[in-house]
Amino acid sequence: MADIEQARRRLAEAQSVAVLTGAGISAESGIPTFRGAGGLWNNYRFEDLATPEAFARDPSLVWEWYNWRREAIAKAAPNAAHKALVKLEIAKPHFTLITQNVDGLHDLAGSGRILKLHGDIWRMRCTTCGANWPDRRPSLPKLPPHCACGGLARPGVVWFGEPLPEGMMKEAEHAVESCEVFLVVGTSAVVYPAAGLVPFAKQSGAVVMEINTEPTAFSETVDFALQGPAGELLPQLL
Ligand code: APR
Repeated sequence: MADIEQARRRLAEAQSVAVLTGAGISAESGIPTFRGAGGLWNNYRFEDLATPEAFARDPSLVWEWYNWRREAIAKAAPNAAHKALVKLEIAKPHFTLITQNVDGLHDLAGSGRILKLHGDIWRMRCTTCGANWPDRRPSLPKLPPHCACGGLARPGVVWFGEPLPEGMMKEAEHAVESCEVFLVVGTSAVVYPAAGLVPFAKQSGAVVMEINTEPTAFSETVDFALQGPAGELLPQLL
C-alpha cells in the first residue's frame, strides 16, 4: 500500500507521462495473453501462425487463427485499466500510450493518442497492391479474405521478424525519453524492440512504474514494481 501511495503521489505530480501496455491489460476483458498461465503460445506455435513464412506456407491456417481471435476480441469490452488510461490522458498535458496489443480495446475505451507498435487486428493489408483498410467484421464470411484488386489480404498486424510500422519506434522513444513517469502495464517485456523501452526510460531519467500480476525481467530495476491486476491497481494509482 505504501508503494502504491508513493507511486500515486509521484504520478499526480508528473506533467509528462508515457505508458507501455501488453496483453496483460486485456486479460481482465477475457482475452488470453501469450505467455504465462493460459497463454496462447502454450497451445500454439507462433512459428506456424505469426510469421510471414507461416502465412506464405498456409494463409488459410493463419487466417483461421486470426478469425478465431477476432471473434473472441469482438466479444470483449475495455476494462477498468483501459478506462483509467483514458482518464490519465485527459489529466496530463503530455501523454503517450504505446501498445503492443492489436485488440483495439484502447480505442474502444476512448484513448486518443495510441502508438500501435504491433499493428491492429481490425485492419487488413493487401499482399499485392499494398492497400490498407479497416475491417471490423467480428467473423469473416470467407477465408482467406481478398483485396478489391483480387490480391490476397493479410491481417494488419506485425509478425515476428517483421519491421514495426515506419517511424513508430522513433516516436515511442521520443515520448519515453521526454516523460517524467513511464508506466509499464501487463507485459512480460521479452519481445523487442518494445521491451527495450523499459531500460531506455530508466536511462532517460524517468520514474518507471511496472504493473503486473507476476515479476518480470525488469521488476528488480524499475522504481515501483506494483504486483497485482491492472484493473485494480491502475484506478488506485489515479
Ligand atoms: N494485470 C496485469 N498484468 C497481467 C494481468 C493482469 N490482469 N494478467 C496477466 N498479466 C501479465 C503477465 O504476468 C505477463 O507478464 O501480463 C503479461 C503478458 O505477457 P505476454 O503474454 O508475454 O504478452 P506481451 O508482453 O504483450 O507480449 C508481447 O509478444 O506474442 C507477441 O506480438 C505479441 O504483442 C505481443 C508480444
